[in-house]
Amino acid sequence: MASRTTSPCLIFLLALLLPLAAVAVPRRHRFPSLQLAPVNASEPPTTFFEVDRPIQPPRGSVGPCSALLLSDSFGYTYGRPPATAAYVPPECLAAARARGGSLALAVLEWSADCRGRQFDRIFGVWLSGAELLRSCTAEPRPDGILWSVSRDVTRYAALLSEPGEVAVYLGNIVDSTYTGVYHANLTLHLYFHSTTPSPPPLPHADLILPISRSLPLNDGQWFAIQNSADVQSRKLAIPSNTYRAVLEVFVSFHSSDEFWYTNPPNEYIEANNLSSVPGNGAFREVIVKVDDNVVGAVWPFTVIYTGGVNPLLWRPITGIGSFNLPTYDIDITPFLGKLMDGKEHNFGFAVTNALDMWYIDANLHLWLDHKSKKTVGSLISYDAASSANVDSQFSGLDGRFVTSASRHVSATGWVESSHGKVMTTFYQRFNYKNSNVYSKNGSEQVVNQTIDAKSGVSTTNGAVLLSEEVHQVFPLYLFSGTSDEVGDEYSLVSAIKLSINEKRGSGAEQGFSYSSLRNAQSARGSMRVKGNLVTSGSGENHQVYKYVGTDGCYSRDVSSKNYTIVFDHSDDSCLKGSQVKGSRFPSS
Ligand SMILES: *[C@@H]1O[C@H](CO)[C@@H](O)[C@H](O)[C@H]1NC(C)=O
Ligand SMILES: *[C@@H]1O[C@H](CO)[C@@H](O)[C@H](O)[C@H]1NC(C)=O
Ligand SMILES: *[C@@H]1O[C@H](CO)[C@@H](O)[C@H](O)[C@H]1NC(C)=O
Ligand SMILES: *[C@@H]1O[C@H](CO)[C@@H](O)[C@H](O)[C@H]1NC(C)=O
Ligand SMILES: *[C@@H]1O[C@H](CO)[C@@H](O)[C@H](O)[C@H]1NC(C)=O
Ligand SMILES: *[C@@H]1O[C@H](CO)[C@@H](O)[C@H](O)[C@H]1NC(C)=O
Repeated sequence: MASRTTSPCLIFLLALLLPLAAVAVPRRHRFPSLQLAPVNASEPPTTFFEVDRPIQPPRGSVGPCSALLLSDSFGYTYGRPPATAAYVPPECLAAARARGGSLALAVLEWSADCRGRQFDRIFGVWLSGAELLRSCTAEPRPDGILWSVSRDVTRYAALLSEPGEVAVYLGNIVDSTYTGVYHANLTLHLYFHSTTPSPPPLPHADLILPISRSLPLNDGQWFAIQNSADVQSRKLAIPSNTYRAVLEVFVSFHSSDEFWYTNPPNEYIEANNLSSVPGNGAFREVIVKVDDNVVGAVWPFTVIYTGGVNPLLWRPITGIGSFNLPTYDIDITPFLGKLMDGKEHNFGFAVTNALDMWYIDANLHLWLDHKSKKTVGSLISYDAASSANVDSQFSGLDGRFVTSASRHVSATGWVESSHGKVMTTFYQRFNYKNSNVYSKNGSEQVVNQTIDAKSGVSTTNGAVLLSEEVHQVFPLYLFSGTSDEVGDEYSLVSAIKLSINEKRGSGAEQGFSYSSLRNAQSARGSMRVKGNLVTSGSGENHQVYKYVGTDGCYSRDVSSKNYTIVFDHSDDSCLKGSQVKGSRFPSS
């Protein structure tokens, strides 16, 4: 793995000292928190939040039984080892097991506060090397802020029941300008089935192997990918009685690639001498390889962190996914036949067109056959193909770049275990289109992008055992206009539309499930920037979240202006006809 000799944050801070005046386009899109008002100790701290549906314990379950896993402060932590704490499974977990009860729900809760001025910082939480949460901090105010984020970690039941080590890396820098220190508590909440006999345990993995970097290290346990040729990997041997394997990938993008979807092609940068503008065009693809095979890809959702574009857009409603970054599952069961030889195999990550810096790691979820020592399998068919195309037209600082790309991966293989001889097919199909237009001598930029990702897995032993499909569409629109540039000061007007539209369907002998999510933000704001500091500004955001599924419904319609909530309506009832009955496959 590449050693990291320079730090992304330090590069960034140095860049800030350079004069801006030579560059008319495009602006950096990342800013620290504003420091407009003096500290007023009687002002209550602001609570930031990400809109999501509440995590509900299953009906009839008991709990929570809660355990504080770690409590720490993150001041000048950059380049230091992660905060760690020994993990001892909470006693209630063993007690419930002894009673024959099973885990119904596990929730990991991060709660934190901060005061002063600070950048948005990325952080990760790992248990025994497996990442459980990737998140970004909220940017503080002089009077202080609070926030919390909860993630359903029930799928890590196998890890939660073993002793281990919790690690949190939050690389922060504190100096006379950036004063915010983050104080955080990490708590685990467990719920158990109370009825006896308990319902059959959920089909969670028996073993979770981290594909990450091991402690000790002075950084996060993620791999840091610095350019398009960088491949980061780890060798792993998997148990010979594995019958199912799913890779869960964590991804976040930073520094020159924090806003990769706004990056122009290099020819435009070279022709205009814009050496400080990040390039490599606007298309990125995370590729996941096992040995020499591309087993899947991630075309990530365009998470905008809390200091992105205009920090006032994300207060107190933070950007979609910014407190709880999405993860991406790749089923590699069809490849198991190649992996169960007892030898080590190479699990690797690369990012097409990457610029410094992508943080990537994964958890390998494995299901083991308790009734045999060895399963056998074979890959039957495999296909991975991709294409990408850029149409560039520019003259001086004005131009139009249209990028399109597509990718298809599919693999079929069988595995024979005590569950029989089961054939698994996994497929992914991606389509991408990005239009990036500069006008008014490069002072205005409009990016309009859509990522369309479909994936599915089906298993059969003659009869269909399970069939699952996920269809995600990530539209993004971003307008950015610069004006009134005087020395190192300028004004910036921004508008953003950002959404996740997702449909999930699954069918098995036990029944069908279906869900549909529309989660959309529309935000606009303006600000005056001096150097890299926001000196004045305003921002507003409107978010509409609508989830309808066989497991319930949730909707929320919430709007903020500057730091104030303008309206906030939520509803968890399934209106007549809105809940989808689990009676058929979705059409998608
Ligand atoms: C366009 O911007 C460049 C770089 O800032 C500047 O040199 C040039 O004079 C501008 N042209 C016009 C027509 O404003
Ligand atoms: C401080 O905040 C309190 C409570 O909001 C307010 O009553 C008071 O006027 C503020 N003081 C100043 C100096 O702004
Ligand atoms: C962390 O927990 C301690 C002890 O319960 C509490 O005093 C503190 O306010 C908590 N901090 C945060 C940020 O939740
Ligand atoms: C870019 O820099 C080169 C060399 O310094 C110079 O000849 C050229 O005119 C510059 N082009 C622009 C568009 O400023
Ligand atoms: C963005 O592109 C899509 C199709 O590519 C188009 O339907 C939509 O109108 C565009 N949006 C904007 C704001 O230009
Ligand atoms: C937001 O705050 C700024 C100054 O802090 C003010 O100028 C602006 O009017 C406010 N905007 C709104 C929509 O309240």
